[in-house]
Amino acid sequence: MKTYLITGGAGFIGANMVLYLLRKYTDIRIINLDALTYAGNMENLQQAEGDGRHVFVHGDVGDKALVARLLREHDPDCVIHFAAESHVDRSIADPMIFVDTNVRGTVNLLQCCKEAWYDPAQRSWRPGKKYIQVSTDEVYGALGPEGYFTETTPLNPHSPYSASKAAADHYVMAFHDTYGMSVNITRCSNNYGPRQAPEKLIPLMIHNAQTHQPLPVYGDGLQVRDWLYVEDHCKAIDLVATAGRSGEIYNVGGHNERTNLFIVETIIDQVGRRLHDSEINEGLIRHVADRPGHDRRYGIDSAKIRADLGWYPETAFEDGIVKTIDWYLDNPQWVRHATSGAYQDYYANMYENRR
Ligand code: NAD
Ligand code: DAU
Repeated sequence: MKTYLITGGAGFIGANMVLYLLRKYTDIRIINLDALTYAGNMENLQQAEGDGRHVFVHGDVGDKALVARLLREHDPDCVIHFAAESHVDRSIADPMIFVDTNVRGTVNLLQCCKEAWYDPAQRSWRPGKKYIQVSTDEVYGALGPEGYFTETTPLNPHSPYSASKAAADHYVMAFHDTYGMSVNITRCSNNYGPRQAPEKLIPLMIHNAQTHQPLPVYGDGLQVRDWLYVEDHCKAIDLVATAGRSGEIYNVGGHNERTNLFIVETIIDQVGRRLHDSEINEGLIRHVADRPGHDRRYGIDSAKIRADLGWYPETAFEDGIVKTIDWYLDNPQWVRHATSGAYQDYYANMYENRR
């Protein structure tokens, strides 16, 4: 039986990962550590309720005593670190929490793992232990119209969010290079799918279209992202956990580059059709002030993970976006909870005066 410590497992990708692992393996134990910030949502884990293989722990990855206790009590074979502040726009408004969670939280987790897994007297690491850092293509910076990010592209982050993720990646490699810790870093492109908080492009546009609100497109809307269906990402992390070579970085991309305007137009078309609602049309699009420092294009070369581990993105965007829209339309209670309360204040602050 394999035991995982998953951090951030009540968020979008972390929760999908927990559910994926519980579906795939019978012989598994998952300790899920999450601080339940605005992005953490226990409704994401409804399918795991009552499942004895999943233990949820409410807490902060920066809490040394708590993390050390979890490592001691549960002795996980593998730590998969998803927990983060993940939204670029929030990082522009308030960068400090990104340093606390993404940098300090990561270093705390690394240090606690080292203390639990390394025997200084023997100068040896306990066998079979691994740490996986879930990072992002944003650490590489932005691309022009040509070329792709590979694992050797120099890090050149632009937003406070991506700067904090890049710093964390450097610490992970430092723990490998300095102390010999067994680590992997995955750097993936934009995920989409069920359970993503509606501050991000796709769920925000689905919700606004459904409720006939304006669809705020930053700048000219011709920025390009490489969209990856979340379950394909989970499969990649599972492969890295079981077969990734220590010290390696793996890019994980969707092979699916689209402009933001294309994404918004697709959502308008699909949501309008599904609801038989002709008021959901391109007249809802509003071009608003651009994001400062907005990265123009991301494009991932994931040849390495394909060659080494046999991974490729299985879900075509045309299928993934329909599944995603269906999930949001079929889960009105989840959407209602996620878009009420604090979200309303966030939305007003972020969008009301954005011309
Ligand atoms: P998310 O914002 O949906 O979820 C983050 C989770 O972390 C939440 O459940 C939150 O409660 C938890 N959390 C935050 N601070 C914490 C703390 N101090 N201690 C414990 N838990 C804490 O994020 P996501 O989109 O699921 O992203 C997960 C990871 O993947 C992040 O590290 C992010 O940088 C990375 N990533 C995301 C994407 C994407 O498209 N969403 C793409 C590339 C990389
Ligand atoms: O590339 C991986 C990254 O993808 C992850 O590391 C981040 O955690 C994740 O949030 C995501 O970052 P982006 O900034 O690319 O995602 P977001 O959904 O915020 O925006 C996608 C694009 O859409 C981006 O070019 C900005 C634009 N956008 C976004 C919002 C929320 C709009 O035009 N209007 C909007 O209202």
